Amino acid sequence: MKSLASLALVLFLAGCEGRHNWLAAAGEEARSVETLFWVLLAGAAVIWSLVIGAATYAHRAEAKPEREQEARRFILWGGVALPVLVVGGLLVWGLLILRDITADDGALTVRVDGERWWWRVIYDTPEGLVTTANEIRLPLGERALFRLTADDVIHSFWVPALGGKMDMIPGRETTLALTPKRLGNWGGLCAEFCGGAHALMRFDAIVMEPEDFEAWLAHEAQPAQVDEGDPGFAVFDEEGCGACHTIRGTNAQGPVGPDLTHLAARDKLGAGIYEMTPETMARWITETHEMKPDIDMPAYPDLQGARLDALVTFLMSLE
Ligand code: CUA
Repeated sequence: MKSLASLALVLFLAGCEGRHNWLAAAGEEARSVETLFWVLLAGAAVIWSLVIGAATYAHRAEAKPEREQEARRFILWGGVALPVLVVGGLLVWGLLILRDITADDGALTVRVDGERWWWRVIYDTPEGLVTTANEIRLPLGERALFRLTADDVIHSFWVPALGGKMDMIPGRETTLALTPKRLGNWGGLCAEFCGGAHALMRFDAIVMEPEDFEAWLAHEAQPAQVDEGDPGFAVFDEEGCGACHTIRGTNAQGPVGPDLTHLAARDKLGAGIYEMTPETMARWITETHEMKPDIDMPAYPDLQGARLDALVTFLMSLE
């Protein structure tokens, strides 16, 4: 029994380690869900003790027919009225939290589309739309409203440290607010089984000082600085990469895959799963499906040597 309990504790703590820890809330919405959780847990412990205490007492005490009426009243209050009050109160509280975290307002609007198996991220700014992928940056202390949808299957958008999770449904828009309260790189992930690479569908959620965020967003809005004579861009062009990928400022305007305009400015490759380095980039191009099974991007195993180097150098220059 003791070893079972310690095993459960170890598993529990292991699950809480690291940046995906929703029990160490880094945002306002996560904080309200966390508070609800602790109140539920404490309340459940108190009620469980009372019920077990009453059951033990009933088992040991002698039956007294003259107290039958009193016992019936106890059951009515404790077994009907109290649960209705408690569950009703929790329902109202939960609905209030839900209303708050899905309310249609925010200082910043971010549209996120769930794709197979990556995230299309579009900042909706007064100056226009700014498209990126697989990395979401947010200003500290500002409420960001997410408008979520999906391309073809249902995904679920979740940044555990910042807030609740929300389904992303094809043909429909759902909303979710996140108000970050701590700087840091909080991981996000897909929380709904969506097919082959579901477990590899992650992203970085980076909370920055508001002025750093503004500078970052202004930079993201710029087109790429590409020299059309770049040998790596020539390889990109010849291999047809631009049919799927966009690099703003060039003739590559493909709408299918992630936007690559500022690819190398992102920390991770492959939707939050690899560090962005020349080595992982080269492998991503040549051993695509060993890197991430089931994805739509074709592998280019024949691309080797100088041409591969030129392409990787070019992609890593897209900052
Ligand atoms: Cu997308 Cu699971």
